Amino acid sequence: MEAQKDILILAIESSCDETAAAVVRNGREVLSNVIFSQIDLHTVYGGVVPEIASRKHIEKINQVIEQALAESGKGLSQMDAIAVTYGPGLVGALLVGVSAAKAVSFATGIPLIGVHHIEGHISANYIENKDLEPPFLCLVASGGHSHLVVVKDYGEYEIIGRTRDDAAGEAFDKVARAIGLGYPGGPKIDKLSREGNPDAIHFPRAKVEENEYDFSFSGLKSAVLNYLNGCQMKGEPVNAADVAASFQKAVIEVLVEHSLHAAREFGFDKFAIAGGVASNSSLRAAFERECGKREITFLHPSPIYCTDNAAMIGAAAYYEFCRGVRSGYDLNAVPNLKLGER
Ligand code: KG4
Ligand code: ZN
Repeated sequence: MEAQKDILILAIESSCDETAAAVVRNGREVLSNVIFSQIDLHTVYGGVVPEIASRKHIEKINQVIEQALAESGKGLSQMDAIAVTYGPGLVGALLVGVSAAKAVSFATGIPLIGVHHIEGHISANYIENKDLEPPFLCLVASGGHSHLVVVKDYGEYEIIGRTRDDAAGEAFDKVARAIGLGYPGGPKIDKLSREGNPDAIHFPRAKVEENEYDFSFSGLKSAVLNYLNGCQMKGEPVNAADVAASFQKAVIEVLVEHSLHAAREFGFDKFAIAGGVASNSSLRAAFERECGKREITFLHPSPIYCTDNAAMIGAAAYYEFCRGVRSGYDLNAVPNLKLGER
């Protein structure tokens, strides 16, 4: 029997503050993964400045694409598809990647595939878990999203829980700013928490009455801010490490409890995490422990595939490619794109 032809995809990601390109073979093998992080540029402003992000993407995009191709050892003409994140994200930032992908596709005649950013995050799990196949349950926790997603099949998703207000990563970023750690807050709280006592302060764990799988983090964020204000008014010193550890514990407890409750109710024995917050070391340890107790297989990408990257877009695009999905040259950036929509 003739061996099946390899499918090579050049993937591009520019939805927020990472300019990224990758070459992925058959959805699971990363031949190159180039990420230019703009974090240093935005740190001084305490968060991502959309206009600065767009301008930097324009400056870097061609270089990042060329480097991804060079490091993959493959030529552009060998690509079977050009994949790009077209939403959700910052519109100006998305447009840079989408325009670059359209230009490359138009110039070469290689098919174009628009990819949903969250589908990319979920698909990051396929890269290192070669045997993972749907169905499974996935928690997506990033700067913009906190979703509990039933991955029914490749490209088929059902969101069973979502945040009512702040995303988990957003809460990390806001609390980090309040205790003077700066942007991005997640990794800094992760690190500082190791020196703190997670039981020092009890912060609230919010339940959403209408949907037991939904999340709410704004009350927790306010509780941390109130605690800090209270200390200041009373002239009491703040132990930032204790605040970080106690806050982090509250977030993790809610994420773990909701996720494993859903896994039990829906009967899943495979559970995956994705998104920037999924790189949190305590979160990973907590899921490892709790899934182990319940004989649920716990899957997680390496940290580099949790935060924004293009390899995950290439992984998602492969399954779209196999399903016959192609985008036209009218592909546009869609800042509020819903998961599962085209
Ligand atoms: O997935 P991502 O790179 O971008 C979005 O799609 O939003 O996620 C970025 C978010 C930021 O809020 C950042 O603070 C958070 O992920 N994050 C973390 C960690 N690393 C990144 N949160 C907690 N612990 C971490 N180690
Ligand atoms: Zn992301």
